[in-house]
Amino acid sequence: MKKDAYLKLKQWLDDTRNEPLETMGGFFDRRIDDYESHMSQWAEHYKWMAQLLPDNIESILDIGCGTGLELDCIFSRFKNVEVIGIDISKLMLDKLHSKHGDKNPTLICDDYFSYDFGECRFDAVISFETLHHYEYCKKVSLFKKIFKSLKPAGIYLECDYIALSQEIEDLAFAECRRRRDRDGIDNDTFVHFDTPLTLEHEMQAIKEAGFSRTELIGFLEHDDHTPMIRAVK
Ligand SMILES: C[S@@+](CC[C@H](N)C(=O)[O-])C[C@H]1O[C@@H](n2cnc3c(N)ncnc32)[C@H](O)[C@@H]1O
Repeated sequence: MKKDAYLKLKQWLDDTRNEPLETMGGFFDRRIDDYESHMSQWAEHYKWMAQLLPDNIESILDIGCGTGLELDCIFSRFKNVEVIGIDISKLMLDKLHSKHGDKNPTLICDDYFSYDFGECRFDAVISFETLHHYEYCKKVSLFKKIFKSLKPAGIYLECDYIALSQEIEDLAFAECRRRRDRDGIDNDTFVHFDTPLTLEHEMQAIKEAGFSRTELIGFLEHDDHTPMIRAVK
């Protein structure tokens, strides 16, 4: 299975090797029209995330909220929750606003690595399918900010896809490096190229931020690469 996944990725990287890299915001801006139908494959995962939030939450920070597909389910369960969403793509946020403007979410068009989330502000922080482009050290610094922004005993929920083996993680990072060098793109520019970490590395990065408990909640049936992870402050 892992070998198949490696060979499939290798083939896909070979097939697309001459394609130029796209910047993160540009990638999503250009796909705004088809985005939600493409992401409908995660419909059950969105419901699952909403179900996992504790009953009594009043505030949520959603990093990389996009058009708010996870929020569609969250707003149906929590009618009065305060939501702050941050995303680098203005068009994604505009779409979120067109769907949920009546709930008054605060939408911030910015980079979640550099934006200040504040201290002890949120009952929950969530991220869905947004972190699989970033390397370990960057994630640790982000998880530290998330930790700081949570109230005591607040929770962080993450649903994102992982590399099924170390070879897959290494292959994707090496190819991203090659394409960056080829296209002359510096390390500070975010590109849309998938470089997921293994589950072990992803959880280690969260633990390193200081959470009192970090746990793998599990996978949905027929899926072995999109875990739900929960961390408690
Ligand atoms: C695959 S989409 C997921 C969006 C939403 N969470 C969902 O599941 O529908 C990833 C989102 O993360 C955003 N994103 C990626 N890197 C970001 C960064 N450094 N700062 C803010 N947003 C970022 C992208 O613009 C995009 O909207």
